[in-house]
Amino acid sequence: MTEKDFIPKPYSNTLEAGQVTWESPSNIALVKYWGKKKNQIPENPSISFTLNNCKTITSLSFSKKENHDGFSFEIYLDDEIKGDFKPKIQTFFERIEEYLSFLKTYHFEIRTTNTFPHSSGIASSASGMSALALCLMSIERSLGEVEMTEVFFNQKASFLARLGSGSACRSIEGDLIVWGENDVIAGSSDLYGVKYPYEVHENFKDYQDTILLVDKGEKQVSSTVGHNLMHGHPYAQNRFNQAHDNLKKLKSILASGDLDQFNLLVESEALTLHAMMMASMPYFILMKPNTLKIINKIWQFREETGMPISFTLDAGANVHVLYPKQNTHKILEFIKNELVAYCQNEQYICDQIGFGANQL
Ligand code: DP6
Repeated sequence: MTEKDFIPKPYSNTLEAGQVTWESPSNIALVKYWGKKKNQIPENPSISFTLNNCKTITSLSFSKKENHDGFSFEIYLDDEIKGDFKPKIQTFFERIEEYLSFLKTYHFEIRTTNTFPHSSGIASSASGMSALALCLMSIERSLGEVEMTEVFFNQKASFLARLGSGSACRSIEGDLIVWGENDVIAGSSDLYGVKYPYEVHENFKDYQDTILLVDKGEKQVSSTVGHNLMHGHPYAQNRFNQAHDNLKKLKSILASGDLDQFNLLVESEALTLHAMMMASMPYFILMKPNTLKIINKIWQFREETGMPISFTLDAGANVHVLYPKQNTHKILEFIKNELVAYCQNEQYICDQIGFGANQL
């Protein structure tokens, strides 16, 4: 597939007005996307677990408008109008207009809500942009004459979501999604996420992700600024090569079920992401003292009990604690007794691997 394959044919049906609603989850990367080229093309491949409970629910109402000069839309978060979300959506619409020729013909009302606490520091761009992309795809599907295949619908939704936020292209489906062309995963693409196509060991089927909210403040560095720091970064090329190597290693780990190797790989990926930020110019430390305390506690607990527990991080201070479902009882007890004290207002979210977005 190339970009051109996503340019629609003239629509045959007309729709005066309507409403569609989708819920779409967040995802957590095991091999991280960090660094991008023009048009939201990633510098390296990434792979993520789709989450189940952390979701955005978006309703998109649309009605035909008189002139077709520009985009017309308003956005509400939890029923409150959000003017500050407008520039991001405006940019998104500009990027996707070529691929959705109806965009200027409607006025849109976007109503969105998240299942996770607002400003919890959890990336809502992945769930938010994927939910919106899916709503737009539902409209496109109704405008077309020929029945759109499920495969094409998901692929184009992922393609559009990527143009809103890179990691959002990994939120359309589950449970493991790969984005970014590479030699290891057949069918992988820079343009959209694909379902991980190989056998996955039982050990990784019901993986749990307990998200410890260490710092709920505004992001210190927006992801766009963060990705740009990889341009001219002294370690960039090695990092991009490492992501390819790690994806290859992860493929055999996922097949063999080797939890020890899995833990080492995902933690190394998380720390490398932060190392890249610390080594860029300007430099950033996005971990907080409590992030490090939690990491050390996890290592100590793993050492003492031999339990398959590990952590990963996004571009922030919150810690994602990863473990197989069968160890939930003991690990959740440890989290409650030893880690929750390091969270802001003792807040944490229990999540697990999910299977992607749903139309409501
Ligand atoms: C650290 O997808 O938020 O979470 O494409 O600029 O919207 P933009 O970036 P974004 O970056 C996420 C980076 C990450 C790692 C990952 O999810 O792979």
